[in-house]
Amino acid sequence: MHPSPTVRVLTGITTTGTPHLGNYAGAIAPTVRASQGPGIESFMFLADYHALIKCGDPARVQSSTLQIAASWLAAGLEPRRVTFYRQSDIPEIPQLCWLLTCVTGKGLLNRAHAYKAALDKNAAAALEPDDGVTAGLFMYPVLMAADILMFRAHRVPVGRDQVQHIEMARDMAASFNHLYGQGQELLTLPSAQIDADMALLPGLDGRKMSKSYDNVIALFGSREQLRKQIMGIVTDSRAPGEPKDTEGSTLFAIYKAFATPEESAAYARAFAEGIAWGEAKERLFERLDQEIAPKRAHYAHLMDNPREVEQTLLAGAEKARALAAPYLRELRHAVGLRPLASAPPASAAARAPAQTAAAAGGKPAFKQYREKDGRFYFKLLAAQPAGKVLLQSRGFDSPQEAGKAVKLLQTVGIQALAQLTKDCIIAADMAEKTELEHALRQLMDDPV
Ligand code: TRP
Repeated sequence: MHPSPTVRVLTGITTTGTPHLGNYAGAIAPTVRASQGPGIESFMFLADYHALIKCGDPARVQSSTLQIAASWLAAGLEPRRVTFYRQSDIPEIPQLCWLLTCVTGKGLLNRAHAYKAALDKNAAAALEPDDGVTAGLFMYPVLMAADILMFRAHRVPVGRDQVQHIEMARDMAASFNHLYGQGQELLTLPSAQIDADMALLPGLDGRKMSKSYDNVIALFGSREQLRKQIMGIVTDSRAPGEPKDTEGSTLFAIYKAFATPEESAAYARAFAEGIAWGEAKERLFERLDQEIAPKRAHYAHLMDNPREVEQTLLAGAEKARALAAPYLRELRHAVGLRPLASAPPASAAARAPAQTAAAAGGKPAFKQYREKDGRFYFKLLAAQPAGKVLLQSRGFDSPQEAGKAVKLLQTVGIQALAQLTKDCIIAADMAEKTELEHALRQLMDDPV
């Protein structure tokens, strides 16, 4: 059996607002669906450090965090299957942010769209160029790069406005690798994933649904509120019986984002046959409510039980940190933030070049060998302290079989253990699991 390499997809949501129907159709629902697909490892997090950049209202940051977390969970996100966490619960992220800050040209950040827009606005108002611009706003792309690079994400689904940030994250990762990687991809270069058919819902007035236009339809309001909002959608003045255009129709655009192609075709037929707008709205409302009603109850439950959401996020943070902590240790080592005893001082280095090589990013290694019993074995030896056994296999009948197990560990890392313990019984000291994981990560072929 060959495990297919997984693709890591990472999504962050800034915790400043209340999710609306447009967020649901455009981001929440497709992301939850994608996270259930095979070969995908999903990371989803609440970007609450990012929230502080644009929101100085503590109560709002807290309530938005709860609302967004509850919305994702109510929408069907399975915290057991994905890694769902809150940015501020991962202290490794701001630490990595600093490491990246030190390899990022200030000029790169000067070119960020959001920062440039602030400058333009100030120029237009004849203000100082940086008036009202915080260092947080300026650093926004670095923190975002840390979010992405911390978990070695391959793909980041984003709207067009965020593509530049992903490109900057790539630039930072490349600079870091160039300076510290010694030919290795210490940081994984991410790619932006722009979904062409990411549904962009129109709002009540027909413009893009957005809080800034005040035209949003609440996602988990009451059934009555939903009905009232749908009835308030602006339509043209065609009378009942007159054929209606689906093209440019807000009702149709929203319906289509939620319905199957067959349902949409039937709705379009009704338009052609001159359905009255009131009736068309009624049908849209019923279709939406059918999708939302069960989730609405779940949402209400979570909003009434914030402790439950907190628990879920803390469990997610634990899962995330199990990856972030050993990886950050590796990165710290790469930049020279090392325990003093682990690297010989320069003069000793000249005398003991072999040892220096190990200290300066020496890698753990698999060793395959044959025992007197005629069977084939392998073990994984640590780089530091040199020769420490991290993993010991049982005997295999052939070198090929032993080689296959090694290969599996090299390609999928620690996750291969689950499978291997069954098949060929590997003794790994679980107390050393983080160390083992760290070593395997250093050896892992990059899956994409
Ligand atoms: N900047 C994103 C937004 O405003 C939120 C975000 C923060 C994010 N960190 C991220 C998105 C990392 C993707 C990856 O929408």
